[in-house]
Formats: sequence, C-alpha cells, structure tokens
Amino acid sequence: MPVKISPSIFGADFSRLKEEVERTERAGADSIHFDVMDRHFVPNLTFGPFIMKALRKHTSLPFGAHLMVENPDLYIRECLDAGADTVTVHPEACTHLHRTLSAIREAGMKAGVALNPSTPLTFYPYVADLVDEILIMTVNPGFSGQKTIERALEKAGQAYEASRREGFSPVINIDGGMNEKTAPMAIELGADTIVMASAFYGSDDPASLVKKLKEIPLRCEKSRHFSDPKKS
Ligand code: DX5
Ligand code: ZN
Repeated sequence: MPVKISPSIFGADFSRLKEEVERTERAGADSIHFDVMDRHFVPNLTFGPFIMKALRKHTSLPFGAHLMVENPDLYIRECLDAGADTVTVHPEACTHLHRTLSAIREAGMKAGVALNPSTPLTFYPYVADLVDEILIMTVNPGFSGQKTIERALEKAGQAYEASRREGFSPVINIDGGMNEKTAPMAIELGADTIVMASAFYGSDDPASLVKKLKEIPLRCEKSRHFSDPKKS
C-alpha cells in the first residue's frame, strides 16, 4: 500500500479549476484537499465549501475539507452538502472538540484533527476513538509555499506512536512545505498521506512526483515486515 497524495487545490490555477481537478486526477492523486480559511483563525481568506460543490461533479476523487476557521461547527452541514468525505478541524478552534468530531461522524463523514506546529498531541487519547485522520501541520497555516518547520515534522512520528498506543490507526496526513525532499522524511516518520500545494501544482510533471513518492515504503509496512519472522 503506497503513500497517498492529496494535492491542495489552494495551489492550483483558480482561473481554470475544472481543468486543474482533471490534471490532479490524471497525475495519480488519491484525493483533493480543500483549504477553507476565514481570515480569523488564519491570516488569509480562501473559499467556502461551495468550491467543493462546484467541483464535485468533475471527479470521483475523495474530497477533504481542512477547516482553518473559527467556529468550524457552522461548516459541517455545508461540507456534507458539498460532497466532502472528510472534515478536519483544529482543536484550538473547537471549544468542545469531542462534540465537533462526533457531529462530523454523525453527519456521515470522516473526522480529522489538524495540529498547528506548536500544538501538542496531548488531547489525542481523549478523542482517539473519534479520529479518522490526524493532519500534522508542518507550517503555520494560512499560506502555501512556506518552508517545512522540521521540529513540527517530528510530530508525525509522535502521532504514529500515540495512535498505536491507543489501539487505533488513523490516517496520518502531513501538510506544509511537502516536496520531493521533505515528503520522504514524513513518510519515514509515519505519514500515510502527503498534502501538497505548491510542489504539486508548480511541477511540470506531477505524475512523476507522485510516482516517485509512492515508491517509498510506509512506516507501518516496514514494521509489519520486521515483525514477520518468515521475512526476517
Ligand atoms: C496551509 C495549508 C496547506 C497548504 C500547503 O495553510 O493548510 O494545505 O495549501 O501548501 P504547500 O504545499 O505549498 O506548503
Ligand atoms: Zn491544508
């Protein structure tokens, strides 16, 4: 099972989004990441779930909404109507994280939690049974094209270990400054999915980038290999 690649449409050419979605699919991406920003939770403003709705009919790839907004509860219904498969929220924006994750699940979508570079994983054991995905932010959210904060990347390994300790294996996504150089480090630490905006949409040959990253074995596969006596 190779790593999954989830290009963030934020890095696409907004004058031709339908073509960009088709290009994303042709390049071998596994899903599309939508960065919803409200200029309150983060210092930038992008789009609401309506963009997902407009693009839903142009691809069968799963859609993930990354809500960088104050009061994410207000967006859950709209994300569902727009055809989102996963909704990811920041614990800092949720007064009642347990309630918000439950509401996303009850709406029939997968629930994700996103951690800013300086947000610890300490809350995780208390919501582990409600978390389908963990999104480790390796840049301060708000903009694409930033450089990975290496200290934040370490949290990929911590998320991997914490989830196994709790007896769960949520999808671990890494988001921020991921490219041909940084993504292999994230995969080594335990990433299942790499989110990328500038490296994917800025590439002349995104299919080769996807192919190259998919050749790297996942951490969970390596541990399976090492624990299998027949293979050692
Ligand atoms: C950052 C967003 C990211 C962003 C990634 O606020 O959450 O998804 O689009 O952009 P790159 O890959 O260019 O760092
Ligand atoms: Zn994002």
